Amino acid sequence: MLKIVALALVSTVVVLGQTFPHTDHSEHHHGTSICAFIGNADCSIFAPHTVCGTDGKTYNSKCDFSKAHCISADLHVVHNGTCDPTIDKVPNVHGNELVHQFFCANLQHSKCGTDFEIVCGTDLVTYDNLCLFEKARCSNVKLNVYTYQACPT
Ligand SMILES: *[C@@H]1O[C@H](CO)[C@@H](O)[C@H](O)[C@H]1NC(C)=O
Repeated sequence: MLKIVALALVSTVVVLGQTFPHTDHSEHHHGTSICAFIGNADCSIFAPHTVCGTDGKTYNSKCDFSKAHCISADLHVVHNGTCDPTIDKVPNVHGNELVHQFFCANLQHSKCGTDFEIVCGTDLVTYDNLCLFEKARCSNVKLNVYTYQACPT
C-alpha cells in the first residue's frame, strides 16, 4: 500500500515537473491558460474595438487581436483604430497587455474548468489551476507565480 502511494507521488511530481518546469515562471504559462479561453471564444459576441497591429492588420476587436496574439506572440498594438499606412508600425502596447485586459474584462464568460495544475501564488494562496490563478491576477497585478506546487503551510 505504501509503495503504491509513494509511486503515485513520484509520478505526480514527474508529470508536474514535465509540464511546468520550475525554471520557467514566464508568460508562456500565463499565456497558455488565457489562450485556452480565448481560443474557444466566439469573437462575434464581444464589443468592437478596432486596433492596429504591428503586422499592419486592423483587428476588429480585442478578441480578434487576442486570438492573433495567441498564435503569434510577437504581435503588438500600434494604436487604437484602423491602421494608417502612413504611420510606422511601432509597437506602443505589448500584445500580452491587451490580451490580459480582454481576458479580465470578460471573466464572467471565461470558465476555468477543473484542470488540476497547482500553482502557489506570491500571495501564498494555492490555486488549483493557472486559469484560477489568472483570474486572481486580474484584481492583483502584482500577483506572480511563487512555485508550481502547493504553497507551504
Ligand atoms: C485605446 O482605447 C482604450 C479605451 O477604449 C484606452 O484605454 C487605451 O489606452 C487606448 N490605447 C491606445 C494605444 O491609445
